[in-house]
Amino acid sequence: MCGIVGYAGTSSRVADHGALDVLIEGLRRLEYRGYDSAGVAVVADGAVHSRKKAGKLVNLENEIADAPLPESMTGIGHTRWATHGGPSDGNAHPHLADGGKLAMIHNGIIENFAGIKAELLADGVSFLSETDTEVAAALLGRLYSTEANGDLTAAMQLAVQRLEGAFTLLAVHQDHPGVVVAARRNSPLVLGLGEGENFLGSDVSGFIDFTRRAVELGQDQIVTITPDTHSITDFNGNPAEGKEFTVDWDAASAEKGGFPSFMEKEIFDQPAAVADTLLGRSDADGRLTLDELRIAPEELAEISKIVVLACGTSAYAGSVAKYAIESWCRIPVEVELSHEFRYREPIVDEKTLIVSISQSGETMDTLMAVRYAKEQGAKTMSICNTNGSTIPRESDAVLYTHAGPEIAVASTKAFLAQITATYLLGLYLAQLRGNLFQGQIKDILADLGKIPSKIQDVLDRAGEIKELARSMADANSVLFLGRHVGYPVAMEGALKLKEIAYIHAEGFAAGELKHGPIALIDDGQPVFVVVPSQRGRDSLHSKVVSNIQEVRARGAKTLVIAEDGDNAVKDFAEWVFFVPETPTLLMPLLATVPLQIFACELASAKGYDVDQPRNLAKSVTVE
Ligand code: M6R
Repeated sequence: MCGIVGYAGTSSRVADHGALDVLIEGLRRLEYRGYDSAGVAVVADGAVHSRKKAGKLVNLENEIADAPLPESMTGIGHTRWATHGGPSDGNAHPHLADGGKLAMIHNGIIENFAGIKAELLADGVSFLSETDTEVAAALLGRLYSTEANGDLTAAMQLAVQRLEGAFTLLAVHQDHPGVVVAARRNSPLVLGLGEGENFLGSDVSGFIDFTRRAVELGQDQIVTITPDTHSITDFNGNPAEGKEFTVDWDAASAEKGGFPSFMEKEIFDQPAAVADTLLGRSDADGRLTLDELRIAPEELAEISKIVVLACGTSAYAGSVAKYAIESWCRIPVEVELSHEFRYREPIVDEKTLIVSISQSGETMDTLMAVRYAKEQGAKTMSICNTNGSTIPRESDAVLYTHAGPEIAVASTKAFLAQITATYLLGLYLAQLRGNLFQGQIKDILADLGKIPSKIQDVLDRAGEIKELARSMADANSVLFLGRHVGYPVAMEGALKLKEIAYIHAEGFAAGELKHGPIALIDDGQPVFVVVPSQRGRDSLHSKVVSNIQEVRARGAKTLVIAEDGDNAVKDFAEWVFFVPETPTLLMPLLATVPLQIFACELASAKGYDVDQPRNLAKSVTVE
């Protein structure tokens, strides 16, 4: 949600780009976060110049082409995902204050904006937009010219004392060319360090084209950048520090690489995402070596329950984890949507391990739930794909997934990498607690090691799924059924279709059918069924085969995902896609892939932008 870029450079040393180039390129890279308007402000010739426009970045670029901005080496840029006030030119950021001398951009929600606005209105300030951001800008402008005596950093320190909620704020002022001041509370902000230029971004994508040196900023920090300096303080002005790191992926890995969309590219990245997440985490004897975890093995061995906290796709990864971890470790695992967890009175204590799962590491609902659990004394572990993001930073332990940057709003490769990481965690706990023999762990790791090439087998047959998807472009509703680990796969298949193809889709536990959902089945209703392995628990397989027959008898068009050699399903399926044999617990890593391809192709056939679906943001940084 909302992308933020800030830049301070020196033309004499950095000849090949000006502020506008950096801002537009950064905003382009941050488009994936989801937005509905965009804007920039630069400081030049003793004034602030701003352009902003509703809609895609191209609208802003056209606006700038019609009304060019002066050359500048200082500026801020923003993509806005509407919260307060609809997506219009007027509500787009930047917002100006102090008589147009100051420009501000903002990510987050200022919860007490109404009271401050009333105060400022009473003082004669007028507002042009419906946003909370304009209120923060006006407050900053007021403080700048009064109590802060023209010191922009001091004004920011005073302003943030008044604000409640979540915010990253960036401001420039015409009296301070070469200076950008930023503040963050509960919203993401990363500093990029260059030679004779410095950057700010919602994440490193905002400046990845210009530098790989980055600094994680802590909670409640203010940073002021100039071309040659950066200074970090807390909200009271006391010196503070960030943590420097090197961005380990390059700009090219965030390109489409010849695929028509990021989503399709990321689906095809999945063999590597799983392989990279497994890499270096076990030795030749099959012993898990999760040295990075930061919680002592003795403490982990003593936990009495696990609570997985996550939202959306990440929560479905948690649901898969429940089956695997309970089976391997005999520890109870609860899976809860982060936003539900926090607002009841959950029972957690120091023997509870909270495992948060988040691709972005910035999902506000999950961050708040983790903080709440910490307050209750629980141990917190983050499974996360984004180095340096807030949730892993605030957790006691972290297990990074190595899916690489995920740009498409609809999560694909991060999901498979998350499931893989939870398997590693489950096996590690089983090893610590002695629930499995070392040989069993080694066998499961060997099965996991074969998954990347099996995913590749599925991808090599993408054409079969795409053909089906194109033939179903007119479907109004698609249902998905699964049992056991097939249930979260069904939910994920439905979510993908909802998100990018805007088709009504529901995932059900197949066993629940006769308790209600079967009433939805009508002539021709498409129903995907995820069939578990024939080996292992016989009853599980045969129950699902019965469910296929039940919906088919009522007119459903049955679309079946089953394991190679599963002849039992053929007679009851209108269409069947076989995935390579694998143990049932690992099957989600294969069975999800055809459903992702199906959604991506169907949405593309309908002419939709699969990378940036309507109304959605990549990371949901407000509650
Ligand atoms: O970054 P996170 O994993 O915390 O995000 C959680 C959800 O917002 C995310 O999975 C969302 O459901 C995706 N759009 C799913 O494709």
